[in-house]
Amino acid sequence: MGARAAEVYDVVGIGFGPSNLSLAVALEEHNVHTPDEPVTAVFLERQEKFGWHRNMLLPATTMQIPFLKDIATFRNPASRYSFVSYLHASGRLASFVNNQTFFPTRQEFHQYLEWVASNFGDRVSYGAQVVGLSRPGEGSGPGVPPYLEVEIRGEADRARRSVRARNVVVSTGLVPRMPEGVPCDDRVWHSSQFLTGFRRLGRAGLRSVAVVGAGQSAAEITRFLHDSVPEAQVHSIIPSYGYSLADDTPFANQVFDPNAVDDYYFGTDRTRQAFWDYHKNTNYSVVDDDVIRDLYRRSYEEDVRGTRRLHFLNLTRVSEVKRSGDDTRVLLMNGETRELEVDLCVFATGYHAMEPTGLLGELDQYCLRDEAGRHRVDRDYRLMAGPELPGAVYLQGGTEHTHGLSSSLLSNIAVRSGEIAESIVSRRRIQRELDEPISAEPAGKSR
Ligand code: FDA
Ligand code: NAP
Repeated sequence: MGARAAEVYDVVGIGFGPSNLSLAVALEEHNVHTPDEPVTAVFLERQEKFGWHRNMLLPATTMQIPFLKDIATFRNPASRYSFVSYLHASGRLASFVNNQTFFPTRQEFHQYLEWVASNFGDRVSYGAQVVGLSRPGEGSGPGVPPYLEVEIRGEADRARRSVRARNVVVSTGLVPRMPEGVPCDDRVWHSSQFLTGFRRLGRAGLRSVAVVGAGQSAAEITRFLHDSVPEAQVHSIIPSYGYSLADDTPFANQVFDPNAVDDYYFGTDRTRQAFWDYHKNTNYSVVDDDVIRDLYRRSYEEDVRGTRRLHFLNLTRVSEVKRSGDDTRVLLMNGETRELEVDLCVFATGYHAMEPTGLLGELDQYCLRDEAGRHRVDRDYRLMAGPELPGAVYLQGGTEHTHGLSSSLLSNIAVRSGEIAESIVSRRRIQRELDEPISAEPAGKSR
């Protein structure tokens, strides 16, 4: 679909991953109930088609949320866009239940997301990279049109155009993190590039590969390379003594409940810190139990057979990679420094949180910041800003400091999208009431 330049949309969503897909669903369900006052929305996505972390769609990897935390159910259990509706539509409801699991594979969840996204083709521009936001005039007050300009660069023609938005919802996702000074190239990848790179390079000629990191991505890629390149030595470079377990036990899991957002947002500095001190191990630098045990079993079997090709280099960090042609040397730091020669090095070194500053450009000066220099964000996920910002900017992601641990995850997106949709609708109602001219003659009292 092509977003129309002259129209002022109620909502322009930047990025069309699960978060804004969930918002699209919430807005559609709102419009069904209020057909006379529909909220108009368009979503801008830089990929050519819908895709959710495609480069990590490895075989046998499973979701880290139960399927009931899909993009709609926690907000509207009767939604036609629930995971259960998808199973029903695809004829697999009974067999999914026979499987007796809460955790579908990432492949299946991807298919579910694609199925939902296919219903919104008329509201999404794919191949549309947003490069910045601006405002249509100077100053503040009645003279400035009440919308933001969202500037887009098309993938195909690189041409620039813009669309107008009363509300912008930024949902551009996590940003891959490499160790400082290590660039990516054809033999050095971040995990977010993995499958594309692996398909392009092929396994022929891979004799020695390294995976850096001790999180879920690192463990899954290590396992995949061990399976897929049976001729290669596989080196897993982990900063800890061994992989640490992702805590998904019931009490700890409560940090991802919708209520936990209020506890975090309205909590004291001390309570907010406690979330991180006690529960960071629900998500960061940790690995699911089944993957840890699988890797250990493989390692033990190699011991039994006396043929070792899976190597765990623990208490080790990587500071540098030396490249020359196909020659790749990874610098390992473990008290002392030594080099490891490999044909491929994958950095599963995690992600930075979403940061809207770049997109905001000059508008960022109107956004309020806290003492630590971080954006102030209202409970409804709206950036707090001065009157010079002639529209609202909402964040889906990048709110770990205000809304807590679920900010970058799927756990709470159904409820969060509902809260954002509700905020947009109720602010529009208030704005309309304010704009309505006050009649000199009260209605119904005409002579
Ligand atoms: P997401 O990153 O999915 O989408 C952002 C979209 O914005 C992308 O499609 C991108 O192309 C687009 N975009 C970016 N910049 C743009 C621009 N300037 N203009 C236009 N488009 C732009 N969490 C969880 O709770 N359970 C899980 O099982 C998993 N599993 C998981 C696996 C892997 C491999 C990773 C890396 C992460 C997870 N996560 C997760 C966490 C992950 O953040 C989460 O699953 C979602 O991807 C969050 O959805 P978003 O839509 O916010 O971001
Ligand atoms: P992560 O959890 O942040 O892990 C990054 C790892 O890299 C950490 O162990 C980190 O160690 C290590 N590291 C960073 N710099 C290093 C260096 N220079 N040398 C050696 N090690 C270094 O990242 P992730 O594994 O990509 O996970 C990100 C998110 O995606 C999580 O939410 C995860 O649950 C999710 N995910 C889900 C699935 C799934 O659903 N199946 C799959 C993959 C990922 P330090 O902490 O010590 O720096």
